[in-house]
Amino acid sequence: MTATTPQVEFWRGDFGNAYIDRNDASHAQLASRITMWSEILKPLVGKMPGSILEVGCNLGINLRALRAISAAEFYAVEPNDKARSVLVGDSVVKEANLRGGMAQAIDFPSGVADLAFTSGVLIHIHPDHLLPACKEIHRCARRYVACVEYFSDKPEMIPYRGHDDRLFKRDFGSFWMDNFPDLTVLATGFAWKRTTGLDNLTWWLFEKAR
Ligand SMILES: C[S@@+](CC[C@H](N)C(=O)[O-])C[C@H]1O[C@@H](n2cnc3c(N)ncnc32)[C@H](O)[C@@H]1O
Repeated sequence: MTATTPQVEFWRGDFGNAYIDRNDASHAQLASRITMWSEILKPLVGKMPGSILEVGCNLGINLRALRAISAAEFYAVEPNDKARSVLVGDSVVKEANLRGGMAQAIDFPSGVADLAFTSGVLIHIHPDHLLPACKEIHRCARRYVACVEYFSDKPEMIPYRGHDDRLFKRDFGSFWMDNFPDLTVLATGFAWKRTTGLDNLTWWLFEKAR
């Protein structure tokens, strides 16, 4: 696996910095995410993950929302420098638990967290690099894997804010299950924009065989 990709450099550069300026962890955003994560984690009530890794967390909107419903130790990977300094400045993730790499090569030991997940990140990984990225996320997850992504029933590239080769939709749930036969689905759902304020996100929660 190469040390970087054109897609990761896009997120490390001006586009990624402008994305941070456009987004913030508003109360409305957090409320929507808390509702979504409460639903995703519903099967785990009573056995909630004690540690959670988000790969590609940006400003940590998911982790901030998860903090409202979880006492877990947080770990994160985020390639954008500016986002990482906000995460540490706002005490979302401890500096020691934060890495600047990318999903395709995660600098954490195997099983570092009970749950490892992505949200709006697999869509930005080129299809040629998707399996190596998922292998790394799977390796880092001790027990559960979740993903929250844009869905399409066939793989397709969608122009993203005027850029080609930066957004790739597919059935990510089937991608996980077809490539990792040790996973079973615990829950899946859809966050419809009209009722949730989220951007038509499809999500899955998987458990690894033990
Ligand atoms: C659309 S944002 C989503 C941020 C956050 N997960 C959320 O749901 O709000 C995509 C994030 O993934 C990061 N990213 C892009 N490619 C990545 C890769 N290959 N590995 C890890 N993170 C990546 C970007 O820097 C950016 O922070």
